[in-house]
Amino acid sequence: MLNEKMINALNKQVNEEFYSAYLYLSMSAYFENLGLKGFSNWLSIQAQEERDHAMKIFRYLLSHGANVKLYEIKEPPSEFGTPVEAFNEVLKHEQHITKCINELVDLAEELKDRPTYNFLQWYVDEQVEEEENAREILNMLELIGDQKQALFMIDRELAKRVYTPLTNGGEE
Ligand code: FEO
Repeated sequence: MLNEKMINALNKQVNEEFYSAYLYLSMSAYFENLGLKGFSNWLSIQAQEERDHAMKIFRYLLSHGANVKLYEIKEPPSEFGTPVEAFNEVLKHEQHITKCINELVDLAEELKDRPTYNFLQWYVDEQVEEEENAREILNMLELIGDQKQALFMIDRELAKRVYTPLTNGGEE
């Protein structure tokens, strides 16, 4: 049986993850309209992964017999400026999610909730990867400056990303 405080916090995180999916989906549309289909592909896969992150918590709550509360998802922006500005936004957003995860870990520790503490370790590791990926693309974009040809080369690289679903649909 999970503590009510933990259940509320996990339900809020489900919303954070769905908002992340919304944000990246909106960015994906923005990049496609800019003619950068590789960036659009990368972000649309990112959006799918965020949905998986939400569903993994959703499943966790249900497997503990806890109530799932799906909060309203706020509207993401639809304009993201230059690719550098957009990926700055991705990195900033991932840093925010890392902070949310760390707060959940703190709460699990405070409540001596071992199962949730263990469950959250997957997210702790995932956030290292999420920030690293965003930083890597941002660094490349900053490095190339205004070189259009290099931008299209990055676009071709990002077009190669493929979606890999979580094993067991996120079930523990
Ligand atoms: Fe679900 Fe990108 O963190």
